[in-house]
Order: sequence, then structure tokens, then C-alpha cells
Amino acid sequence: MISLAGGLPDPSRFPTDELATIAQAVLRSDGARTLQYGLTAGELDLRHHIVATTPAATSIDEVVVTTGSQQGLWLLAESLLDPGDTVVVSDPEYLGATQAFRRAGADLVSVPTDAEGLDVEMLEARLRAGTRPKFVYLVPHFHNPSGTTLSADRHTRLLALAEQHGFLVVFDDPYRDLQAEGPAPVEPSPHPMSVHLRSSSKILAPGLRVGWTVAPRWLAQAVERTKQAADLHTSTVSQAIVLGALTADWYPHHLDGLRDATRVKRDALCAALRGRLGDRVEFDRPSGGMFVWARVVGLADTPLATTDELLPAALDRGVAFVPGSAFAVDRDLSAHLRLSWATASAEELEVAVDRLAAAIDAA
Ligand SMILES: Cc1ncc(COP(=O)(O)O)c(C=O)c1O
Repeated sequence: MISLAGGLPDPSRFPTDELATIAQAVLRSDGARTLQYGLTAGELDLRHHIVATTPAATSIDEVVVTTGSQQGLWLLAESLLDPGDTVVVSDPEYLGATQAFRRAGADLVSVPTDAEGLDVEMLEARLRAGTRPKFVYLVPHFHNPSGTTLSADRHTRLLALAEQHGFLVVFDDPYRDLQAEGPAPVEPSPHPMSVHLRSSSKILAPGLRVGWTVAPRWLAQAVERTKQAADLHTSTVSQAIVLGALTADWYPHHLDGLRDATRVKRDALCAALRGRLGDRVEFDRPSGGMFVWARVVGLADTPLATTDELLPAALDRGVAFVPGSAFAVDRDLSAHLRLSWATASAEELEVAVDRLAAAIDAA
């Protein structure tokens, strides 16, 4: 079985030895502090590092370290939302976010994405029609699942709308460092209506469970109070290991390696899809991240009809993917599927697409 389904990073890219060295040094030289209870908002030295490297954060009072960025999503939902509040999301959208918002009782209003990310014109139309969101949630770089990146122009227009209509914009950005080529995405400037969620999961290892939320001070305080009730604080040992890694000599080289692998595997998956499936699939080549979002053309006219029904046939042939319906908010995404290139090798990706193509051919 070759899985293109999971959203897991490639474990062969975890800097395991380097993290082990840091962990040992942290425990031996600073065990009394790092094994003790810590601050709810996160360790001071890590928050200072975040402020120094994240232009959107102007003070450590705007930074809360969270147990993964998933906890940041949950804490924001818990701190900001009352039942019946409106949250705008993309369609398709990351399931972990829509789950967190729905659990808090939010009504989700969806806006489609295209090659430039969230369709801001459509959002504007919804606002004109009376939609009053508490916040707009989006994944600005290499969206999970659609792979799209928000254009600079839309980013600016979105923040202008946020000021005009009084809503927050939550930028959930765990994939930003995984650009396949070219310079790193531009870091956003501070803005009173914007919230930024970041994570060490895709750049170091998700098992560390260290993310952080950068928010206006009033909101960071609310998130901190909610977090106190949730888990007191994020593992101090993990925070010390993450800080050690982010400031290590090897870290820039490690990131370069992740980006190279992203490019090679994205290209292998896209080339295999083009070569083996041609115009039976439609997709835009993402400029980074982990996912290709594709539509199977003509699937509705076959007996299998949807990617949910295609999945068992694909599994029988030894390949897994996630059907588009898993990410649907309002749209019918039953002809779509999400393919992750992250864990398979370039050679396995080719075999996986062969198997997928055989399942589609037989549909
Ligand atoms: C868009 C997005 N946000 C947040 C998360 C949560 O990541 P973590 O809690 O590991 O930081 C994920 C995980 O895949 C994700 O894809």
C-alpha cells in the first residue's frame, strides 16, 4: 500500500540526531527549569525568538505558545466564538479547523478558492449581502487541501475589508516554509485585525507539539486564559528543544533540504499525474506544501461516480488518497481528491499514480 492520504511529514526528514543532542543538553544543563511547570503563554526565550523572527509580532505579549497550532485554532474558537457566530472559511477547507469552529457552535459561511487563494471578491459580495463574520479563517500558503497560495493583492484587500467591516483574519500558516522554489514567502507586517498561527510540526516534527499564535494583545490575553484552563502550558521540554533547533547552525540547511525534497516530490507527483492520467485529471501545480488537489474529469459518468466510491477500488490496487468530500463545507467536491507527496519517495509516487490511474480507468 502506498499512501498519498496522510497529512504527515516525511519521517526520514526529521532531524532526529540533532534533536536528540539538543534534548540531552536541555535536560542535563537546564533540567530543573525545563522539567518544572512553566508559563501559560510559553517560555520567555522562545517567545522573544518568535518576536525577533516574526515581523507581525511586536511584543512577547502578543505571542502564546500552543500545543501544536491545532490547539491555537481550538483556543481561538473557544475564546472568540459564541454559538451562532459566523466564521468565514474556504471551500474546500482544512478539517481540523472546521471541526474546531463547529464545536464552538459557529455557523460556517464558505467562500470558494481559486488559483490565487480565497476569492476575496466573493467574500466582499457575501459581506455586502449581510454576512457579519467574527473572523475569516484561511491557510495563506500551500493550503491544505487545495494547495493554493493567497496572492499579495488579495491579502491587502482582505485586510482592508477586515478594517472596514470589523472582523479578524486568522492566517493559519503551518506550510509557509515549504516553498518548492524561489524566495521564502514575504512575512506579513503587524496589523490590528490579523492573527497568525505558526507551527514547528512541518519544519521540525509534529510529535514535539509546539505551535504559536500571534494575536493583538487583548486576544492573546484571552487565548492565554483559555489555555490555562485547557492544559496550563505547552511542554517546557518541547519548547526548549524547538528553540534549540530554530537557533541551531544546522537549521537553515535542514530547511533547504525540506524545500528541495518538496520540489522533487511535487514535480514527480505532478509529472506522473500528467503523464499517466492526462486530461482525466485537472489540477494546478502548487508552489509548495504537501498536497495536490485534483478533480477527476468525467468520474460522475462512470459507475463509481465519486471519489468516495473510487477509494475502495484504489485501496484494492494499493494506493490511498483522501476523497474531496472530506474537506467540503458547502460545495459538491465528490469528484475531487487530495494527494500528499510528503511521505512517499519519488519512485513510489510514480507507482502510486499508476495504481490510481488503473483504478480510474476501470471505474
Ligand atoms: C492547515 C493546518 N493547520 C493546522 C494544522 C495542525 O498542525 P499542528 O497542530 O501539528 O501544528 C494542520 C495539520 O496538518 C494543518 O494542515
